[in-house]
Amino acid sequence: MDELAPEVEALRRIPFFEGLTPEDLSRIATIGERRSFEAGQAIVAKSDVGGGLFVILSGSATVEAGGKAHTLGPGGFFGEMALLAGRPRSATVVAAEPVEAMVLDAMYFRPFLIKNPSVAVTILEGVVERLREVQDRIDAATEERE
Ligand code: CMP
Repeated sequence: MDELAPEVEALRRIPFFEGLTPEDLSRIATIGERRSFEAGQAIVAKSDVGGGLFVILSGSATVEAGGKAHTLGPGGFFGEMALLAGRPRSATVVAAEPVEAMVLDAMYFRPFLIKNPSVAVTILEGVVERLREVQDRIDAATEERE
């Protein structure tokens, strides 16, 4: 049996990867690194330089950003901001419970998005949703002050 098969099967169940072909999933299983984190462990730390894109396979993590804590569960992703902007990590992401994540190294990130536009669109949708949430809160606070 193909030794990547169970890995590909696990990835296929994650909504983030659902638009990908079996060949692309197999490629992610090859180039991605599966990593585990204990509850309470910082997965990425604010101001850190470097690192990859994280997709949560199981467990959950919290991010404190824009004055609010956000919880990310299976299929949730983080780490795209530093990679896209070429800047240090914007926030610390902490495992709220044991987390299993697939990490795509920075080196593979852009070529991977170019080859898989459906993943690029998924990331774009997630980023817009986060931006919108922060924007709505700022607008609400501004209206309250007026
Ligand atoms: P990055 O800056 O690389 O590292 C911290 C990550 O936290 C960031 O990428 C995003 O993926 C994530 N993040 C930042 N702000 C938010 C938010 N408002 N909601 C959810 N995740 C966020």
